[in-house]
Amino acid sequence: MLSRRCGRGGERLEAILLVGGQGTRLRPLTISTPKPLLPTAGVPLLEHQLTRARAAGVHRIVFATSYRAEMFADAFGDGSRLGLDITYVTEDEPLGTAGAIRNASAALTCGPDAGVLVLNGDILSGHDIAAQVAAHEKAEADITLHLTLVDDARRYGSVPTDEAGRVIAFVEKSANPPTNQINAGCYVFRRSAIDQIPSDRVVSAEYETFPELLAAKATIVGYVEAAYWLDVGTPAAFVQGSCDLVRGRMSSPAVPPTVDGRAVLLAGAEVASDAIVSDGATVGVGARVEAGATIESSVLFDEAVVEAGVRVSRSVIGKRARVCAGAMLDDAVIGDDAVVGPGNELRGGLRLWPGVELPATAVRFSADR
Ligand code: GTP
Repeated sequence: MLSRRCGRGGERLEAILLVGGQGTRLRPLTISTPKPLLPTAGVPLLEHQLTRARAAGVHRIVFATSYRAEMFADAFGDGSRLGLDITYVTEDEPLGTAGAIRNASAALTCGPDAGVLVLNGDILSGHDIAAQVAAHEKAEADITLHLTLVDDARRYGSVPTDEAGRVIAFVEKSANPPTNQINAGCYVFRRSAIDQIPSDRVVSAEYETFPELLAAKATIVGYVEAAYWLDVGTPAAFVQGSCDLVRGRMSSPAVPPTVDGRAVLLAGAEVASDAIVSDGATVGVGARVEAGATIESSVLFDEAVVEAGVRVSRSVIGKRARVCAGAMLDDAVIGDDAVVGPGNELRGGLRLWPGVELPATAVRFSADR
């Protein structure tokens, strides 16, 4: 009997998207909105990867959700807007990266030998997904990982390979990584390899599944491509990713029209004629930038207000939050509905929680990171 194959030649490929994490490093932005849905260059972060996956031949995606699961269906529905067929599987308790893959696989339709693309929902990657799938098929691999190159691999999973491209070890977050080739969070799994992951318990792909399959002599291959790649895990990375998309350093079909590659102004955004919005900044729906203000490399969520003369650099301003005249922000995160009163200078990674109102002051706040 012919097994039903998907993933052959990159056509009719199915994918699992991991979007169940709590995004703790991005608090307070992720208190109300899961990280994969944060507006990034004007659209949900995920939309950039979804449109790229679609262009690479993915037609059906199973979202593995947990934290604030209902918000994903509200944002993407059945996926038809993006030419995708999207299904949602929700974990009652988060099952970890591999546990979530196993749990979501119940909704796949492909056969045991088919390749299934697995994407982390918080990565911006310009790598060639179709080429990764082709490499997986050529090697007849059980798992093919996208590996990218970084200057300092200590914060990541380091993945050395042999001359034939076979993975020889998984070394997670070590002071002495064996290579600067790291796990970039995009995999092609043979469907039958997913079926070997234990069900109904927490399982980590990085710490359990990959090392165990390697020890069992599975064929695990590295697809090395050093295209644009960013783990959007921290506020600084979030701002960078959004600005890189606007400036075209990371290409995505989902980026709205820009103002000369300098900024994105969403519907109803008001920017005073003598205000400056530059370096990849986004001004959200109905947000306002008043006279003489400067917004550089920053993200203003919907209905945020920056009053006259304020300078905002490398910062995020939450929904309906307000930065009053005489204040300034540099590398700061302002939660939804918060107010930065006149005279406050917030720098160095400082985060203001949603709804907090800082009164007028001459005090300068900064946070060491
Ligand atoms: P931090 O809490 O800041 O570390 O962020 P995170 O929760 O997103 O964790 P991490 O960056 O390690 O997660 C990588 C990807 O896997 C993200 O897309 C998460 O949404 C997803 N993820 C992590 N844990 C789970 C889980 O238990 N279930 C599901 N479905 N997805 C998960």
